[in-house]
Amino acid sequence: MSRVDPEDQEILTGADVTSPNASEEEVPQRPGPMPGLPDEPAVPTIPRPEPAPPTPAPQPEPGIPAPVTPDGVPVPDAPQPVTPGGIPAPGADPSVDPLTLPGLPAVAEPGDAGEAPGADSDPAAQLLELEQALPQGEGPERPYRIAVFASGSGSNFQALLDSAQSGRLGAQIALLVSDKPQAKAVERARAAGVPVFVFAPKDYESREAYEREILGELQQAKIDLIVLAGYMRLITDVLVEPYAGRMINIHPSLLPSFPGKDAAGQAVEHGVRLSGATVHFVDGGMDTGPIIAQRAVEVTADDTAIELQLRIQEQERLLYPEVVSWFAAGRVKLEGRRVLLF
Ligand code: GRF
Repeated sequence: MSRVDPEDQEILTGADVTSPNASEEEVPQRPGPMPGLPDEPAVPTIPRPEPAPPTPAPQPEPGIPAPVTPDGVPVPDAPQPVTPGGIPAPGADPSVDPLTLPGLPAVAEPGDAGEAPGADSDPAAQLLELEQALPQGEGPERPYRIAVFASGSGSNFQALLDSAQSGRLGAQIALLVSDKPQAKAVERARAAGVPVFVFAPKDYESREAYEREILGELQQAKIDLIVLAGYMRLITDVLVEPYAGRMINIHPSLLPSFPGKDAAGQAVEHGVRLSGATVHFVDGGMDTGPIIAQRAVEVTADDTAIELQLRIQEQERLLYPEVVSWFAAGRVKLEGRRVLLF
């Protein structure tokens, strides 16, 4: 994909697929380092609140068949074999999330309960003040909160919603942000009772102006992680900087191959035999952030772009909730460009 006006300081994050909502205006990019990712190696900095040590999910060795009953029926809720990249090993049930989500660690943030003034010696009084300080319905272990940004159909968003509902996500979808009031993603959010922030870009004098408003919404909702899922707008430093290391995107190719628009079309055109889906951090470039996880999809000789795209999206819907669950469980670490899962 061609580079755009270098003066444009915004990046493309979600406008990388064939979408009826995409417009040329929405797909520039910009070079530059990832804010919050220094050049030097060793940057263990995913600003997930640092809670109790996470309990890694039990994971069978890759290649070990999925657990089954003596009749050969898959054992419900049994941990599924995965490869280190999160790809189900041969024998894994593809309908089951391959990771068993560990319990949510406690989240302690400045401003959250925990330092009740005047109650430092009496545990009972401390607990009481803690409870009083919390908004109704919110326990002392505050759930990990994500905001999903979507402009289109929102099939990834739906997969996240389903995963949250089943408890596998380990996170609360606290906000949907969309630039398209008519988007199916907005409809899905309303049906699921997820708060929605919809804006019309033309009502603002600049991208920075609406992003400042989005930032306010994110802060008010105490969002821990931004999950871009087909968001067809450029994103500027107004959002990238405060959420450096806490903003992820899904792209329909095996990055670094085929960044930008129409990734499936590019893959078919190029004649590759394998493509797939990539979840990566959002940095200052076009689909260039550190890669978190990938799933491969075979490309057949007679594939069309749309056929390949649909098969990739099937994998995306499995991969994205899984990756978000890693964040929610505090299992992701960044060292230089390498993303470690522990
Ligand atoms: C996905 O294919 C994703 O890779 C890209 O945008 C598409 C969004 O699809 N970033 P949907 O709206 O989630 O169905």
